[in-house]
Amino acid sequence: MRLRKADWLFVCAAALVVLSVSLLPSPRDRNPPVPHTPEHRGLASEKDCLRCHHVGGTRPLPSRHPKRQDCWRCHKAAMD
Ligand code: HEC
Ligand code: HEC
Repeated sequence: MRLRKADWLFVCAAALVVLSVSLLPSPRDRNPPVPHTPEHRGLASEKDCLRCHHVGGTRPLPSRHPKRQDCWRCHKAAMD
């Protein structure tokens, strides 16, 4: 088996890629912030977000958007 060393190198490289991807930071500063608009003023509860950001609402979430309810974890408020 001449390819054995190359196979091991491939396995190691793949493991390294998986590891580094899983360690990638996901800083919420890089996600779109909650804009400073009248719709977003004085929203205390994350439950309120889904009043508009649901399928069929004024601003539905894209289908690839994470299905999570903790909006503030990823979206910081641009409000002062
Ligand atoms: C009353 C309706 C309404 C509510 C409630 C609401 N939004 Fe929005 N949201 C909008 C609209 C309309 C836009 C588009 C605003 C624009 O582009 O000017 C928007 C835009 C956004 C954006 C930016 C999208 C982009 O393309 O940059 C984020 C993030 C967001 N909302 C998050 C939230 C979060 C988190 C909450 C709950 C705290 C929330 N929204 C509650 C109507 C609402
Ligand atoms: C795990 C992190 C995470 C959570 C939790 C999260 N979001 Fe997002 N959201 C993102 C990312 C990343 C994007 C940018 C997606 C893109 O550009 O394709 C985004 C984009 C958006 C947008 C813009 C969509 C558009 O039309 O461009 C809105 C609005 C939004 N999120 C609202 C919310 C609301 C409301 C919640 C809570 C129910 C929420 N998000 C929870 C990560 C998150």
